[in-house]
Amino acid sequence: MACVISVASGKGGVGKSVVSVNLALVLARKGKQVVLADLDVGGADAHVLVGLLNPPFTLTDFLNHRIEHLDDLAQRLSLHPNLRIIPGTGDTLATANMAYSRKMRLIRDFQDIRADVIIVDIGAGTGYLALDFFLMADHYLAVATPDPTSVLDLYRFIKLAAIRRVLSMFVMRDVMPERFTNRDYSSVEEVLELVGKTDESGRASAENTLRAFQPTLILNRVTGRARVNVLQLRKLLKEYVGGDLTLLGEIPEDPAMEQAVRAYVPVVQYAPSSPAAAALERMGETLLQLLKPPPTQAA
Ligand SMILES: Nc1ncnc2c1ncn2[C@@H]1O[C@H](COP(=O)(O)OP(=O)(O)OP(=O)(O)O)[C@@H](O)[C@H]1O
Ligand SMILES: [Mg+2]
Repeated sequence: MACVISVASGKGGVGKSVVSVNLALVLARKGKQVVLADLDVGGADAHVLVGLLNPPFTLTDFLNHRIEHLDDLAQRLSLHPNLRIIPGTGDTLATANMAYSRKMRLIRDFQDIRADVIIVDIGAGTGYLALDFFLMADHYLAVATPDPTSVLDLYRFIKLAAIRRVLSMFVMRDVMPERFTNRDYSSVEEVLELVGKTDESGRASAENTLRAFQPTLILNRVTGRARVNVLQLRKLLKEYVGGDLTLLGEIPEDPAMEQAVRAYVPVVQYAPSSPAAAALERMGETLLQLLKPPPTQAA
């Protein structure tokens, strides 16, 4: 089964899509079979960033049952033979409030995509859909810029994702009705109290789940002056959420990135010697080390 990596952020426009397409290409070049899946239901544009301006099929075809399996939707890109893309849907309204059964079909069918790695570009924000898509992964990448509002939004996003992860664990164990998960919780403590009342060992297993929740941070558009205090963010998460955060890497502010976007080519291809491309190459290398080994091939 493929290793799923989800890429999300609290705030929009911080660079999720450019990070996703570039990491997808870097990993494809390193020999992995990669599928880039655009699950940004609000404004899917990853296909444009890889030069596929008019995709013949999109996620809409899957959601409308014109194509039954996501794997059949994954289109090979001329950028690299190891790279395929599942273009997102342009149906903003229809899918932003995706019904539960449709969402579950999508999440289930993900497991049948034939690839070593699936990189999922998730829409910004903390809607249940974005949180659930984020949480279906094996590795969680969170993108932020050094802008204080971006960091604050990222903290909120990670906190809500952690809460949702704990709640869905209890729904799956059939000890909590689903209506509890769709309420808004303001703090992790509130949720721990709730699960403590629901199930005898609830609090302890919820705390274990929180500790195991370890997203990886990518800082984008870093300049000499503006640096996020990663330690501070880490401390906040440890104290109020219980999880940990590690830094995968930093990408500098770089005009080559914008030029590459305008040329519809990932920056690692468009300007390989630019500082942003070099940072993304290093990040891809680190990510490769984190991935689980591919399943052993049957002889
Ligand atoms: N390191 C960088 N240096 C300079 N410009 C950048 C950098 N990273 C991203 N950008 C610019 O920011 C724009 C937005 O990036 P991107 O589309 O990846 O954000 P996003 O988080 O996916 O946005 P959305 O939330 O709308 O999906 C890019 O088109 C690019 O011009
Ligand atoms: Mg995007």
